[in-house]
Amino acid sequence: MTDSRPILITGGCGFIGCNLADRLAERGDNVVVLDNLARTGVRENAQWLKSRHGDLVAVTIADIRDPIPVIDAVRDARAVLHLAAQVAVTDSVSDPASDFEINARGTLNVLEAVRLHNRLAPVIFASTNKVYGRLIDDSAITLAGQRYVPTHDGLAGGISEDTPLDFYSPYGCSKGTADQYVHDYARVFGLRTVVMRMSCIYGPRQFGTEDQGWIAHFLLSAIRGNPLTIYGDGKQVRDALHVSDAVGAWLAALDRIDLVQGRVFNLGGGPRNAISLLELIDQIGNLTGRGVAYSFADWRPGDQPWYITDTSALSDALGWAPKVEIAEGLRSLHTWLHSRFGTSDGSREATA
Ligand SMILES: NC(=O)c1ccc[n+]([C@@H]2O[C@H](COP(=O)([O-])OP(=O)(O)OC[C@H]3O[C@@H](n4cnc5c(N)ncnc54)[C@H](O)[C@@H]3O)[C@@H](O)[C@H]2O)c1
Repeated sequence: MTDSRPILITGGCGFIGCNLADRLAERGDNVVVLDNLARTGVRENAQWLKSRHGDLVAVTIADIRDPIPVIDAVRDARAVLHLAAQVAVTDSVSDPASDFEINARGTLNVLEAVRLHNRLAPVIFASTNKVYGRLIDDSAITLAGQRYVPTHDGLAGGISEDTPLDFYSPYGCSKGTADQYVHDYARVFGLRTVVMRMSCIYGPRQFGTEDQGWIAHFLLSAIRGNPLTIYGDGKQVRDALHVSDAVGAWLAALDRIDLVQGRVFNLGGGPRNAISLLELIDQIGNLTGRGVAYSFADWRPGDQPWYITDTSALSDALGWAPKVEIAEGLRSLHTWLHSRFGTSDGSREATA
C-alpha cells in the first residue's frame, strides 16, 4: 500500500523548498510546507504551489522557533525536508542572536519533534559550504584570467566532505551547529538523517537580493538596469547548481534513505559549473545584450575566494550528477526573472 502521509518541507515557500514541493506534488506526493513567510516574495511561491497543485500541497504558516506547530506538522509526516532558515550572512552579522534562534534552535526543535513523535521519519537538512570557513588562504590561490584557482593540484576536483570544519561568520556557526546536530542525531538517537552541504543553488522562483542569492540578484539587476556592488574583487569562484538538479539530489536521497541515512554530502555544480563573479557579469552581458555597471566594496567576512564542490560522494552513493550546464541554467533563470519582473520592451521591470 502506498504511504499517503505528507512530506513536510520547512521553509517550503522559499526558493529551494517550493521547487522541492513542486516536484514532489508533480509525482503525486502529498506535501505540507511550513513557513513563516519571513523572506520577501515567498508568499508568491505559496500561491504558485496552490495554483498548480491544489489540495496536494497544504501551506502552514508557522515559525520553527515555536516547537508546538513544529511537533504538530512533524507528527503526521512521512519525511521531513528541513530548509527553513535565516539565510543571509549579512543579517547574521547584524543580528547573531536571531540567526542562532532560527538556524540552530529551530533545527533542534525539528530534530526533537522527530525524535519524540515520529522517529522513523527521514530528515534531510539544508546545510551549507560555509561550514568549511574561508578554506584557503591567499598564498594557496593564484589568478587565472578573471578567476582564482588553487595552486595545489589536489584541489582540482573540488572540496570533499573530509575537509575540516571551520565555522566562519554567525551564519556559518548557526548552520554548522545545526549540521552537526542533524548528523549526531543519526549517531546517538538512530534518526534517519542526511546532511546536504550546498554550494550556490540558483534557478526559477529565486528572489535573489544583495544579501543572498547572488546569481538571481545579478540577473535581476541587469534586467532592472541597476548597478551592482561587488564585495571583494569579483574574482572569487563558486560552483553553481541549477535548482532542478538540487531537487534531483534531495529526492534521490529521500527515495533511498536506507542507503544514505547518517551520511553528510557536499552538493553543488562541481568543477564544470564553476564561475567567478566577473565571469558571470560577462555572461549576463552576452545574455541580455547590455553591459552591467558595477563598483567594488570591501570583502565580506568569511567570503571564500574559491569554492568548488567535489560531488563524487553523492555520485557514488546515489548515481546523481548535475544535468543542467551553467549557460543553459542562466538562460532559464533569466527567462523566469524577465517574465516576472521585466517589461515587454525589455527595458526596466514594472513590479517589485
Ligand atoms: N540558495 C542557496 O544557494 C543555498 C546554499 C546553501 C544552503 N542553503 C540553505 O538552503 C535552505 C533554503 O535556502 P533558499 O535559498 O531556498 O532560501 P529562502 O530564503 O528562499 O528559503 C528559506 C525559507 O525559510 C523561511 N523561514 C525563514 N525563517 C523561518 C522561520 N523562523 N520559521 C519558518 N520559516 C522560516 C523563509 O520565509 C523562506 O521561505 C536554507 O536553509 C539555506 O541556508 C541555500
